[in-house]
Amino acid sequence: MEKIFDSKFNKNNISIKIIFFLIKKYSSPFWIYCAENIKQKILQLKQFDTVRFAQKACSNINILKLMKSEGVKVDAVSLGEIERALIAGYNYKNENDIIFTSDIFDSKTLKRVIELNITVNIGSIDMLYQLGNLSKGHNIWLRINPGFGHGHNKKTNTGGEESKHGIWYKDIKKSIDIINKYKLNLIGIHMHIGSGVDYKHLKKVCNSMISNVIQPYMPKINIISAGGGLSIPYRYNDEIINISHYFNLWNKTRNIINNYFNKNIKLEIEPGRFLVAEAGLLVCQVCAIKNIKNKRFVLVDIGFNDFIRPVMYGSYHYISAISYKGNDMSNLPKVETIIAGPLCESGDIFTQLDNGKITFFILPLVNVGDYLIFHDTGAYGASMSSNYNSRPLIPEILIENNIPKIIRRRQTIQELISLELF
Ligand code: LLP
Repeated sequence: MEKIFDSKFNKNNISIKIIFFLIKKYSSPFWIYCAENIKQKILQLKQFDTVRFAQKACSNINILKLMKSEGVKVDAVSLGEIERALIAGYNYKNENDIIFTSDIFDSKTLKRVIELNITVNIGSIDMLYQLGNLSKGHNIWLRINPGFGHGHNKKTNTGGEESKHGIWYKDIKKSIDIINKYKLNLIGIHMHIGSGVDYKHLKKVCNSMISNVIQPYMPKINIISAGGGLSIPYRYNDEIINISHYFNLWNKTRNIINNYFNKNIKLEIEPGRFLVAEAGLLVCQVCAIKNIKNKRFVLVDIGFNDFIRPVMYGSYHYISAISYKGNDMSNLPKVETIIAGPLCESGDIFTQLDNGKITFFILPLVNVGDYLIFHDTGAYGASMSSNYNSRPLIPEILIENNIPKIIRRRQTIQELISLELF
């Protein structure tokens, strides 16, 4: 049996041997995803009528193709994400394949949504006027802000009075009046209050779904969507979400609404992180080590342009090390280590708290040339990368049945600057 890191973090079957093979073939740094892990996460949600992937978490077309082949539908939040879904084979003619979720229309997206007749999950009253004026009978959902929210960080809380998302719950009646006036076709109600489930909030969301839907002015909808937000254990002791408990709460909610409308409505879920986070690893190389007073800084060849979660939210990611010769280093002595990137910006540090305070990771004693592996990076990793400091995007590799496939090649510097050359 090949070694697959510390047993605690053995979440997918990507072995150290494969990683080292990929390092030799493609050079550090790069992202890896494990297809089997994604498939297994999809299976865990099979009780829901529809699983819709929030592709912003990992929008590579090859990941979308994998989702599609496993029966997962897709959410798109921009014109770019709509085009990605189409290229991946999602069919705009199936009214349920692609849902466009947004709080605004820009003119190009509005035109495309109408041209393809894509169902829109509406997040503002202005969108109702804009769509209603141009496309009578268009299928829509309403995304409701129930008046409260929850997230792993205040930046990922999408409900409550400080959130820009969704239609304020007190404006639903007004929205239905506009929907009726413009003859829009309301088929779904959606609530996504943030990323990171906790059951106290969940009950509140379910109750809010019931009280917002069971109203005399509400038409007989076909679908309710629980949104995304399912959490994953980033830390060893993090709670593992109990899917059947989660499903049961939503299923009860759906049944109450079924009884009210006297019809069978569908229950959707819209996860991003849950499906892909644990399938992903980020591989980088140690380029320099500095000892500053009593602090040990290990500087690697990725920056927050590649991976922003630790910097943006103070997110924790487990990190393991393999030697420049490809050996597991987990049994070596460990030391408090600050892990930083190459960017010309002092906040380019992967070990920090959400208030920006620098912290450390207990890392094996690595040397220049060794490799670090960031775990659970499949969600909001590659999809949030940028070209800051004029650094090209790094490759993405999908491993399926032990066979690695490059699903995004490394961007060249020439490609990066070519938009500016005329
Ligand atoms: N549905 C809607 C309407 C959303 O806005 C989101 C996430 C999801 C579903 C999926 O949420 P998930 O299941 O992945 O928690 N960049 C942050 C997360 C921001 C999420 C934004 N919306 C992070 O790295 O944690």
